[in-house]
Amino acid sequence: MNILVLHGPNLHLLGKRQPEIYGHLTLQDINTMLDQFVGASPHDVVLKILQSNHEGEIVSIIGNHIDWADGILINPAAYTHTSVAIRDALSTVAVPVVEVHLSNIYAREEFRHHSYISGIAEGVVSGFGAYSYILALQAMIHILGPVTNENLDS
Ligand code: DQA
Repeated sequence: MNILVLHGPNLHLLGKRQPEIYGHLTLQDINTMLDQFVGASPHDVVLKILQSNHEGEIVSIIGNHIDWADGILINPAAYTHTSVAIRDALSTVAVPVVEVHLSNIYAREEFRHHSYISGIAEGVVSGFGAYSYILALQAMIHILGPVTNENLDS
């Protein structure tokens, strides 16, 4: 299964960016965690991990993976709360989407409580720091894989 992992704007600064909210791990640390999780998984998972600060570029990346991705795990960051274009791109590709956030967006400012992405996502993981990504990846493998006890454990 091919899973596209997309990190949105400002996430390249993780580690330096408001660590009291987003934690001390860098984006590279998170990507390494994801690669290690996949390496230890019994499933045949291929990850492609990309980051962009630009809405149009994110739209293009999503569209360019229409024939490749079996699922998309996305932290749209600030575009979560503003982007119909990213929502439409994800709907166009029409593969399962898992939305992920490091922080609990519902425990923060009011403007973060609405997500344009959630309505077309299979589910949302929010509030567990870097571990949100592992939970989201686990959920994606569960969605794409055969439903077995082994799958639930992996
Ligand atoms: C975020 C939450 C968003 O509200 C914010 O704009 C981000 C990061 C998170 O991972 O907690 O950039 O998506």
